[in-house]
Amino acid sequence: MEQFTITFQPGDVRVTVPEGVTLLQAQIQAGLHPDAPCGGRGSCGKCRVTLGDGREVLACQTAVERDETVFLSQARSAQILTGSRSAADIHPDGRDRYALAFDIGTTTLAAYLLSGETGAQLAQASCLNPQSQYGADVISRIQMALEGGGETLRRCVLDALAALTEEVAGKAGIVPGDITAAAVVGNTAMHHLLLGIDPGPLTIPPYMPRVSQAMELPAEDLLPIRGVFRALPNIAGFVGGDTVGCLVATRFDHLEELTLLIDIGTNGEMVLGDRRRRIACSTAAGPALEGAKISCGMRGVAGAVDHVSWRDGEISYHVIGEGEAVGLCGSGLLDLTAALLEAGIIDETGRLEGGAYRLCPGVTLTQKDVRELQLAKGAIRAGIELLARTLGAAVAEIRTVYLAGAFGNYMTPAAACRIGMIPPVLEGRVVPIGNAAGEGAKLCAVSRAEFDYSRELAASTEFLELASLPEFQDRFIDALGFSEETE
Ligand code: FES
Repeated sequence: MEQFTITFQPGDVRVTVPEGVTLLQAQIQAGLHPDAPCGGRGSCGKCRVTLGDGREVLACQTAVERDETVFLSQARSAQILTGSRSAADIHPDGRDRYALAFDIGTTTLAAYLLSGETGAQLAQASCLNPQSQYGADVISRIQMALEGGGETLRRCVLDALAALTEEVAGKAGIVPGDITAAAVVGNTAMHHLLLGIDPGPLTIPPYMPRVSQAMELPAEDLLPIRGVFRALPNIAGFVGGDTVGCLVATRFDHLEELTLLIDIGTNGEMVLGDRRRRIACSTAAGPALEGAKISCGMRGVAGAVDHVSWRDGEISYHVIGEGEAVGLCGSGLLDLTAALLEAGIIDETGRLEGGAYRLCPGVTLTQKDVRELQLAKGAIRAGIELLARTLGAAVAEIRTVYLAGAFGNYMTPAAACRIGMIPPVLEGRVVPIGNAAGEGAKLCAVSRAEFDYSRELAASTEFLELASLPEFQDRFIDALGFSEETE
């Protein structure tokens, strides 16, 4: 079979591939980690590239037939949230000199190197999850694993974790072999794919994990470090160790007042409760808020509109990196929708005047985008109401709303309340807590007692399967509109 050389620009990255492979596969082979939210099915349009003759094509749908120069859209660096606010001080048990904490997100990976003696953070590093090149959402990756691609997915994330380990060790002036403990948090699918556990049960009702319990493994089986590798437990198929990490970091079972934790990542995971009782649920909210199903949607990286406001009859916006706007990230989508509601351009049913709104040359919101957002926000709102009902509490009794994760950190609470994703009565009670999942991983990396505490928290948190509740559909449909709430 004939071989061709593909040269990717900018960067002059060359790769030789056989005739017939797609340009997306060539990018993957070149180590460029392309964005492919639909997993190369040709439906998302996010893999668009420009060929040397000026034609724009979808990389996943274009087979290599000759030597080619391919222009990628401007390289974007990930804006990855690594800061956080935790209720717990780190008290290491002093068994290890150095410990590592990992937060394995569907989109990003973060590593923190800690002193096992003082708990101080010595270095941190992050990168995009290289599994993204096989699909943005967990379902496409699970599908790939079920079709025999599990080892490819596992290998690429392990390689990335090893590179992050080298990076943080280098920054701290040690070698990876000096590290003798690690802890990892991640959603259930990331957990299973990392540890080579069959993710099949996550795709069929009742969507429970193959493995829920906390695991301690020999670290050298996974990474170039020694000692123990701790994986936090999962609560359910779509409420994983990352949520448990948030519970550990916030000392959720010590809270006196009714508190709602919302972590919007690929899914929207929520926990409502206090020291007496805690209930978790998950909603399929992520894809719209992470940009995958939005026509101009993108991650929160350079070029994304992240904030929009409506004042004195004018709409203004902010672009990450201050350059030209090329798309809308989740917080921008919420803000823009709230602004258009204020402006009367979107009505209470979600109808967008004229079917589309052009914010600027690179960014247009379509009617379909608004509908996608309505589905996401309706699911979150219905989840909040049903959690409260199951606990026998009124939504207004919730005293604090912890917003964890990157999206929670950047979104404007007023916009989330204006569109009704969060009940407006809670607007003044919203507290962004940053990467609480990563904070939980840090605690468990330096302390066996914290890891045991994560087991207790997972075991004592009930799970509510929203889809199994007959009233979910009604609540969800009621929550789709944008009517101004006065409660
Ligand atoms: S259209 Fe090519 S990856 Fe989605």
